[in-house]
Amino acid sequence: MQSKDLLQLADQFGSPLYVYDAEKIKSQYERLTKAFSKVEKLRINYAMKALSNVAILQLLRDLGSCLDAVSIQEVQLGLHAGYSPDQIFFTPNGVSLEEIEEVHSLGVQINIDNLSILEQFGTKHPTVPVCIRINPHVMAGGNENISVGHIDSKFGISVHQLPHLVRIVENTKMNIVGIHMHTGSDILDIEVFLYAAEILFDAARNFKNLEFLDFGSGFKVPYKKDDIETDIEELGKKLSKRFNAFCEEYGKELTLIFEPGKFLVSEAGFFLAKVNVVKQTTSTVFAGIDSGFNHLIRPMFYGSQHYIENISNPKGKERFYSVVGYICETDTFASNRRIQEIAEGDILCFRNAGAYCYSMSSNYNSRYKPAEVLWINGEGHLIRAHETFEDLLKNQIPLPASVAKQ
Ligand SMILES: Cc1ncc(COP(=O)(O)O)c(C=O)c1O
Repeated sequence: MQSKDLLQLADQFGSPLYVYDAEKIKSQYERLTKAFSKVEKLRINYAMKALSNVAILQLLRDLGSCLDAVSIQEVQLGLHAGYSPDQIFFTPNGVSLEEIEEVHSLGVQINIDNLSILEQFGTKHPTVPVCIRINPHVMAGGNENISVGHIDSKFGISVHQLPHLVRIVENTKMNIVGIHMHTGSDILDIEVFLYAAEILFDAARNFKNLEFLDFGSGFKVPYKKDDIETDIEELGKKLSKRFNAFCEEYGKELTLIFEPGKFLVSEAGFFLAKVNVVKQTTSTVFAGIDSGFNHLIRPMFYGSQHYIENISNPKGKERFYSVVGYICETDTFASNRRIQEIAEGDILCFRNAGAYCYSMSSNYNSRYKPAEVLWINGEGHLIRAHETFEDLLKNQIPLPASVAKQ
């Protein structure tokens, strides 16, 4: 989609605004499935935590995707969006047995990431098909918050605990149908995936009743022009070959699962915000926008660098700016960034705003969350309205007068 379309949407729906390009989501989905077309049984579980608007879930369902959900509420959203229970995969970490039981009662495949719950669940439900999440202890990922395979990580069951795991499975006679891993996000090097895959295959040899192997996700997407990214086509070629060979050795056509979030929706998203003030100080020029880390927390939380463009002045001379938000603490989107000359009232466009942006937004500073628009067939459709004052008050309960007076 083009800058002029984004500008028109900001004008029509106001700012700040999230816009998602349906065509980009579709092309990413097709790129991934094509890369693994040599695998007989491939399943994509969209990691809906990245962006869980129901319209996006419906779009992906229509493309043939299934879902990866990490909470009972995500499962319910998936069902609401029209996915059948068998199209949803539940990969929580550290949740209660009650939540796992509840998800299981909805008919959804569960994935267990610790030995304690595995033993309790297996003792109670020995015949229920269960997937286990192992931690291969492969150090990978863009930064330590999104690198989840290391030895100190809370995620999954350590591969070093496989003997204990196997003992629990044998004692409870539970039915292990899948093995899962996810080593981190923003992994560039395909050798990391291939190396971790071997660990997964090794673990898989301990179980005779498998139906699928889930390789998680973590593909690195480009954040600016000419940025590096995971070579999906090369990974597809190499991993498919290795996976097919493993299936032959195992004696069964297993399903290969990926659960991408960023890969499917990151580049499809644009965040539009208006410049409230241009402030020259002794050290820099600030462009202060009508948003903050309440709407887009990734730069402050992960240090992520979202490409920023002044779509109101695309041909303007580039100058250096620090782009900041209105939250009452350090709230920096970019420092010393070259951006086309900015005037108050201009609309800035943040790229890669599809994954972990709206879904991580909050009402901090009692600000409303922005609206969301899906750009499809050359038209913008409002898929979530801007919040209003009623939304801020919705669940608040005033104290009764008698208590308030004390
Ligand atoms: C278990 C699991 N699967 C999949 C994903 C999606 O990862 P990405 O957005 O990097 O594709 C995550 C991200 O946190 C995850 O924790």
